[in-house]
Amino acid sequence: MVECGVWKGGAVGLSALAHLASAAPPRRHLHLFDSFNGLPEPDEELDGHKAVQLSNGRASGRLQSTNVLVAGIEDSKTLLESIIGYPKELIHYHRGWFQDTIPRDANTIGAIALLRMDGDWYESTAICIKYLYPKVAKNGIVVIDDYGHFEGCRRAIDEFLAKEACPIFLNHVDYACRYFIKPER
Ligand SMILES: C[S@@+](CC[C@H](N)C(=O)[O-])C[C@H]1O[C@@H](n2cnc3c(N)ncnc32)[C@H](O)[C@@H]1O
Repeated sequence: MVECGVWKGGAVGLSALAHLASAAPPRRHLHLFDSFNGLPEPDEELDGHKAVQLSNGRASGRLQSTNVLVAGIEDSKTLLESIIGYPKELIHYHRGWFQDTIPRDANTIGAIALLRMDGDWYESTAICIKYLYPKVAKNGIVVIDDYGHFEGCRRAIDEFLAKEACPIFLNHVDYACRYFIKPER
């Protein structure tokens, strides 16, 4: 199970709890990708005014922290390992900008059952879907947390899906979140 954009680990914690409830002993590896140092600057053109607002006007598109949504690895470790009790040997922390860690580490991950993308911006979403979707198993689940909220996220997904040979049905969770199941062919 892969989480791109972890923050304090709330969503990946729910995935961990669900797996613990359904499999004993748990066997799924959790891969956590994050800067663990906050959101990078969005790109004003691609990401739009909501992104500019959230990043307090710092929207140059540069890979430097906006100091917004900052949480360190220790927050996730405490939640997943100490509070939830997920086996630490099944948890992998990929710290750094997605633009560096995802192309580098994608091939170290096995088949992905659940890919959650919660990186908010265009570039953050585009890099995840490009490198990690090929690793998603057939019938695996892909969640896009901010499709309905951030225009850059939506654009990255729409551009990607437009190139897919097999049409994808996006399921609606709430105004922001969408998910789909990877088709068999
Ligand atoms: C909305 S928060 C994630 C919330 C989280 N999934 C939860 O359960 O609460 C977005 C996260 O994405 C990370 N992020 C966004 N773009 C990134 C990038 N290009 N590289 C590394 N981390 C990134 C930020 O550091 C932040 O922790």
